[in-house]
Amino acid sequence: YFLGIDLGTSAVKCILVDSQGGVKASHSVEYPLLQPQPGWAEQHPEDWWKGTADCIRALLAKSSVKGEEIAGIGLSGQMHGSVFLDQALNVVRPALLWCDQRTAAECEWIERTIGKEELGRLTGNKALTGFTAPKAIWLRNHEPHHYERTAHLMLPKDYVRLQLTGAFGMDVADASGTLLLDVENRRWSPEVARQLGIPLGWLPPLFESNDVAGHLQPAAAELTGLAAGTPVVAGGGDQACGAVGVGVVRQGIASVALGTSGVVFVHDDTYQMDPECRLHSFCHGVPGKWHRMGVMLAAGGSFQWWKNHFAFEELQQAEAEGRDVYEYLTALAATAPLGSEGLLFMPYLTGERTPHPDPKARGGFIGLNMRHSKAHLTRAVLEGITFGLRDSMELIKASGIRITELRVNGGGARSLFWRQMIADIFGYPVVTVNSTDGPAYGAAVMAASGVLQQDIASLCEQWIQVVDRVEPNPEQQRRYEQYYALFRTLYPTLQSTLH
Ligand code: XUL
Repeated sequence: YFLGIDLGTSAVKCILVDSQGGVKASHSVEYPLLQPQPGWAEQHPEDWWKGTADCIRALLAKSSVKGEEIAGIGLSGQMHGSVFLDQALNVVRPALLWCDQRTAAECEWIERTIGKEELGRLTGNKALTGFTAPKAIWLRNHEPHHYERTAHLMLPKDYVRLQLTGAFGMDVADASGTLLLDVENRRWSPEVARQLGIPLGWLPPLFESNDVAGHLQPAAAELTGLAAGTPVVAGGGDQACGAVGVGVVRQGIASVALGTSGVVFVHDDTYQMDPECRLHSFCHGVPGKWHRMGVMLAAGGSFQWWKNHFAFEELQQAEAEGRDVYEYLTALAATAPLGSEGLLFMPYLTGERTPHPDPKARGGFIGLNMRHSKAHLTRAVLEGITFGLRDSMELIKASGIRITELRVNGGGARSLFWRQMIADIFGYPVVTVNSTDGPAYGAAVMAASGVLQQDIASLCEQWIQVVDRVEPNPEQQRRYEQYYALFRTLYPTLQSTLH
């Protein structure tokens, strides 16, 4: 078996995959998210490690698989978070997470210090509040005593790998989101580190995602029930792992991941960057390949917000009928006409990244009239999220890449109604695949690739099959196009009002 671990923002999920790619068992353990101030998001790295160890133990117990039967381990994780350790490997302070928005001033300083264009040339990216380097600068500016103590900087899942193996390491896919990587050449950028004053010695050695980056140490074996000496591959950030987990490993294939955030992701055989860095240009979890992506911060998150605050009756009704509340809500949305009779929703509830890198962006319903019911508002939320994601796809398409297939994954992919909406708004066939365990599955593929010495793309071909395909409906496509044109005018027009 191969063990795939996905260290998420709300929980860690562990799965066991057999040598044919079948999922034998899975288990999750939650941990708290700290929000000490509005816009801040932190977690205790110790909670991640405890949660992971508990999760692995429970997974082995419930599947009756012995530690010795695990041939390799792969790690996926929430990206960008900053783990600060001192010389003795103690955690200096809670990690600042990908969704933490406190570093706007640091991002401005970085772009002023290095120059926007030069930063793009050196890293392939722009300074965004979620990224890691701005968090280190924030620590220097606001908690100098913690900065002084820091000796190591790493990403969330690399801290867990350190506990498992005792070895430092980071894969180039996840490292791409630090703003310290020379993404084109897949190595740290000494130039960026120097200009930002971040010691290169803080950064771990780099690997490709399927490289073995360490072996399980005895203390961790005891805690988890795994066998000492089991190989652990470097793994990747959750977006790269999620893409591998649904087979987005070849030119022409793109994906839309509908989780809390929404990500439009495209595989690149060669390094490509958006001249204005509106898209992220990152190394892929496939060795020697890259990807670009646009990240919407509140995709499923917007729908969840709608459910939590405005769908109380639907929630009760769904519970009484034993139905999933999201299924109930999408059925309600489907009763409203396409375009929600002119009602548009702006999905920027937690600020935005792509295509508007604006931590202060805000959401809104625009165009309400007396005819609008809850069904219209619900449909408008789904349409607004999908229009926002289309903005990222437009940036990808502008580079001339030919996309043949869009793989939709994440919780939102379960709804046929939403998949059809994506096919119509994006204008591509939308497929779903048999693997539905997301980044944890990608991490298991990476482990199998490293241990079996088989390349990731051919393993994906053997293990991952298309199970459903939705074609765009030309008439609906044409009608959505008019609403999308309107949607595109909203952010620029209302930007200053909504700040
Ligand atoms: C990607 C990103 C999110 C987090 C979520 O750039 O910030 O997908 O990785 O876990």
